[in-house]
Amino acid sequence: MCGIIGFTGKLEAKNILLEGLASLEYRGYDSAGISLFDNGKIRTIKTAGKVTNLVDKAESSGDITSTCGIGHTRWATHGGVTDTNAHPHAHGKVTLIHNGIIENYHELEVELATAGRYPISQTDTEMVAMLIDSLYTGNAIDAIREAIKRIEGAYAFCILFADEPEVIYCIRNASPLVACHANDGSIIASDMVALIPYSKDYFVLPEHHIARLTKDDIVVMNLEKEVVVPKMIHVNWDVTAAQKGGYPHFMLKEIFEQPESIRSTILPRIIKGDLPDFTVDRIPNEIFEKVNRVIITACGTAMHAGLVGKAMLEKLLRIPVEVDIASEFRYQDPIIDKNTLVITISQSGETADTLASLRLAKELGATTLSVVNVKGSTIDRESDYVLYTQAGPEIAVASTKAYTAQLSCLYLIAFKFALIRGTITEAQCGAYMKELKAVIPAIEKTLTLDKTVEEISRGLADTEDLFFIGRGLDYALSCEGSIKLKEISYIHSEAYAAGELKHGTLSLVTEGVPVIALATQAKVYSKMISNIREVRARGAIVILITNGDAEVEATLYDYHIALPAMNDFFTPFSSAIVLQLLAYYTCVHRGFDVDQPRNLAKAVTVE
Ligand code: G6P
Repeated sequence: MCGIIGFTGKLEAKNILLEGLASLEYRGYDSAGISLFDNGKIRTIKTAGKVTNLVDKAESSGDITSTCGIGHTRWATHGGVTDTNAHPHAHGKVTLIHNGIIENYHELEVELATAGRYPISQTDTEMVAMLIDSLYTGNAIDAIREAIKRIEGAYAFCILFADEPEVIYCIRNASPLVACHANDGSIIASDMVALIPYSKDYFVLPEHHIARLTKDDIVVMNLEKEVVVPKMIHVNWDVTAAQKGGYPHFMLKEIFEQPESIRSTILPRIIKGDLPDFTVDRIPNEIFEKVNRVIITACGTAMHAGLVGKAMLEKLLRIPVEVDIASEFRYQDPIIDKNTLVITISQSGETADTLASLRLAKELGATTLSVVNVKGSTIDRESDYVLYTQAGPEIAVASTKAYTAQLSCLYLIAFKFALIRGTITEAQCGAYMKELKAVIPAIEKTLTLDKTVEEISRGLADTEDLFFIGRGLDYALSCEGSIKLKEISYIHSEAYAAGELKHGTLSLVTEGVPVIALATQAKVYSKMISNIREVRARGAIVILITNGDAEVEATLYDYHIALPAMNDFFTPFSSAIVLQLLAYYTCVHRGFDVDQPRNLAKAVTVE
């Protein structure tokens, strides 16, 4: 949802901004722009399209000598994808960039029009540039303070004032901003990936606080103008983690990183006797003791991880677990009390609906435990307890390694929870944990199916519709396989509980329609085979995925992918790898942009 960056220091700013925008582009890629102080004057270059368009435009814009500027990559909300609507937006002495949505922009527009101020773009953002300029009488901080009293919505702003060359002002509400001061200057951005070339230590700008960046330092103050010292956070990955490292796309790199990300997520949380331990996470056993109900809430792929979590938790604990789409949950009237554990799952830790669900759950008295990848994110800071997925930066819009790291955390939670509640013994728990560790070599083996899956996906390149079917855990995986394929290859697909297919949807299965059938669960295997017969009888092309090399009548499938044999509980990890590779290669064969699919963005900080 828009990437923003600001730099002021001793180095040439233009390249820092352009490189930073390239690393933030996963957040939005409808248009891009930069504004720089050049010999005391602000120069703006902006264009519709990707950052590469901006790079070309900047190169042909003549020499720019600047050590201070701001940059933006846009995911369009208000106003179409045009050069004019690209950020930065300038009015009078104010030039700014914005991530978020200004909900009362129309009232502001009416108010500003009465004062003779009119926008030239169709964006909500421009109203804020106009508003701050209208309130500015020489003191930037006062103008910002006054302006935000009038603004409703989510925002992160970086602002230049023409009267203060080399200085950047920033403020945020809900939308993220992280910053650091390094030897060569001060830098602020939507995400740590843009800061990592300069520092492994950073801070999150607290909400409703103003940051003033100069080349010598960053001063953070609250709205009463009292200086505050934000808490520093350290990351243990380096710049190579946010690069493609020889892979053609981030998505493929991230798929292949999964053995490592699962290892880093699981192994530090295992103690003697192969038991799960959350001491380093500071999650006390007591939170699991009183719980009589669990609600998991999340969006997109993270919600699909929740579906697997539900199956595991219910099986081991015998207490009800509900999975809710966060954007629905927040406007329902959820049944929550102090004995409810609400688990939110989020890679970015910034998804607006997931965050709102977390806040609602807390308000209603639940204990909240979040599974989060980005340290210091809002969901991380606001949750009662957090279990970090150690997936490292995930750049491709389609989530892969974050998903399996989320599964790893949910399995750990299920085992720990069941052990504390006495629904499994230590010996059983140790056995489960051993199987969880065995997922790592199983995934490594599954990744060797890469070329097989690539070949199969070649046959899907001209498909317009297809189905994923499965039962139980395989249905949860079908949902994830379907969203993965849709989001990057633009093929319409549906995930169906295999037994439900005949209640209407079978009418869409005709000669040549591909059906990806997951049949990894012994308990419902024979039922799945019957369902496969049903689609086969209608002429479907069947791609069958089984746990181990199950003997299946050869007439029932066109392609058969045998996962490494493992306990049925743990097949979601290997199935996920196959489904991710299938989506990836189908997208590649169709010639679409793998890492930056149309209309989507990675961190959705608006409703
Ligand atoms: C976006 C992304 C998805 C992701 C979802 C939730 O839609 O494109 O890949 O699953 O947001 O994101 P989160 O950061 O909360 O996991």
